Amino acid sequence: MNSREETLQAELEERIRFETLLADLSARFVGLPAEALDREIEEAQRRICETVGLDRSTLGQPSKEGVPQFTHAWAIPGCMPAPHSPAAPLFPWATQQIQGGHTIRFSSVEELPPEAAMDKETFRRVGTKSCVCFPLLVGGKAMGALSFGTVKAERQWPDELVNRLRLVAEVFASALARRASEEALQNALETVEALKERLQAENVSLRQDLQLLDGHPEILGQSTALRDVLAQVEQVAATEASVILLGETGTGKELIASAIHDLSARRNRRMIRVNCAAIPSTLIESELFGREKGAYTGALTKQVGRFEAADGSTLFLDEIGELPPEVQVKLLRVLQEKQIERLGSSMPIPVDVRIIAATNVDLEAAVQKGKIRQDLYYRLNVFPITVPPLRDRPQDIPLLIHAFIDQFSRAMGKTITSISRSNLDALQHYPWPGNVRELRNVIERAVILARGPRLSVEVPSVQPAGAPTSSAIEDVERAHIVRTLERTGWRLQGKGGAAELLGLKRTTLQSRMAKLGIRRPTPEHGVGT
Ligand SMILES: Nc1ncnc2c1ncn2[C@@H]1O[C@H](COP(=O)(O)OP(=O)(O)OP(=O)(O)O)[C@@H](O)[C@H]1O
Ligand SMILES: [Mg+2]
Repeated sequence: MNSREETLQAELEERIRFETLLADLSARFVGLPAEALDREIEEAQRRICETVGLDRSTLGQPSKEGVPQFTHAWAIPGCMPAPHSPAAPLFPWATQQIQGGHTIRFSSVEELPPEAAMDKETFRRVGTKSCVCFPLLVGGKAMGALSFGTVKAERQWPDELVNRLRLVAEVFASALARRASEEALQNALETVEALKERLQAENVSLRQDLQLLDGHPEILGQSTALRDVLAQVEQVAATEASVILLGETGTGKELIASAIHDLSARRNRRMIRVNCAAIPSTLIESELFGREKGAYTGALTKQVGRFEAADGSTLFLDEIGELPPEVQVKLLRVLQEKQIERLGSSMPIPVDVRIIAATNVDLEAAVQKGKIRQDLYYRLNVFPITVPPLRDRPQDIPLLIHAFIDQFSRAMGKTITSISRSNLDALQHYPWPGNVRELRNVIERAVILARGPRLSVEVPSVQPAGAPTSSAIEDVERAHIVRTLERTGWRLQGKGGAAELLGLKRTTLQSRMAKLGIRRPTPEHGVGT
């Protein structure tokens, strides 16, 4: 063999070795588990460098934040490995070339153009003499770079070699892309799992609510007023009609709502409750109607609304008077069309929901003030039930007192056998602005304080003017409102009225008063003016 033949022979051998290696690599990378990929890439970098006689190979990819980063490297022993640092500041020109989809190739650092001054310096510093660098192209876009280089001596990069090495870059690119899409899929699955878990958690919390409802004491009372209410409850329960419960705070509206649901054909599914006053107005819409992921900034997950949750059951909309007008419009539409649209979606979802609403504000006044839309008012006002305040049914008071004493003494493990006649009388004559809730709290407190079998219940005094006796925020607010009202002779509106002095709208003041149990004292109780 002459020397030319020898060269050809050597070239052929090298080519065969490389083709064999490439075939082997392609086979290994197919079906490679994601976690084995990194190791396998570095191993391949080593084998290629050794086969071709190169000193170093480095792979870089953008981090999660999009900053190009060296992620895989191999180098001959004694050679400085690629730094684990962002690539762009060190190789600004090369980064730009790669991002533009161009291959970089130089036999000597001197070949680099003047605009690559920074890159040139870095190459020198890390000892690179010759280098070829490929973009890792996926769908025509560079998602990283793969470089091969020498440090011991400069070398040429014939086209044939460059083309073969490019094939390696392609194998790496597709393996990395496959892993990225697998990871994206995995993330999506995890999101679905998390959503499922949340939904289950919500079910649990709703069921806990239900247990509380289940455990509600019977609706106690013997007054004609309450019997009337219960007769209406029985009448309407069997129908599908919307019900609105009116009445002061603490009169038992929620209890009545549960009773209607429990007597209805929908009783096998739990009643879903929404307190319109407790949910910020910006969230109420998605609470009620649900939302798709990304419906608005911060909507990271899909949410099933309460309407959907109440499908086939009853939705109790408490404090309906607090619903923002734009949500009232939507609510009305849902009531008419019996279908909802989640926020961020225009796909209608049919829902079969019976509505029970409740409010302690004067609804007609709210309509007149424009706080409640008239059309919604008519829609909900199909079957209004007014729960009378406790002072209008004093016959119920002794019964409730005995039931609450029994309930609390049992719960606290105390034996209470009596309460004085005069004490009962006094309690029966108190106006109970906070109604049954207030009575219940007063009895609970008395049972806590009880030292023996005879219970002595302190009768609350109608909040007098002067310093509040408690510094709880509600008590302070109540005292302040009462004092202002007394100053204005209980005049709410107009110039110098309590609403103006307090800087509130009259309706707002009225709903605060109802919430805090503030009523103008009646003359027979001899308090106030
Ligand atoms: N007739 C009744 N028998 C027994 N307990 C009652 C009765 N009415 C009300 N209660 C009790 O009084 C408390 C207040 O009742 P509820 O929450 O139903 O009032 P509400 O009218 O919804 O008040 P608010 O308007 O402030 O929401 C609850 O603990 C409830 O169980
Ligand atoms: Mg209530």
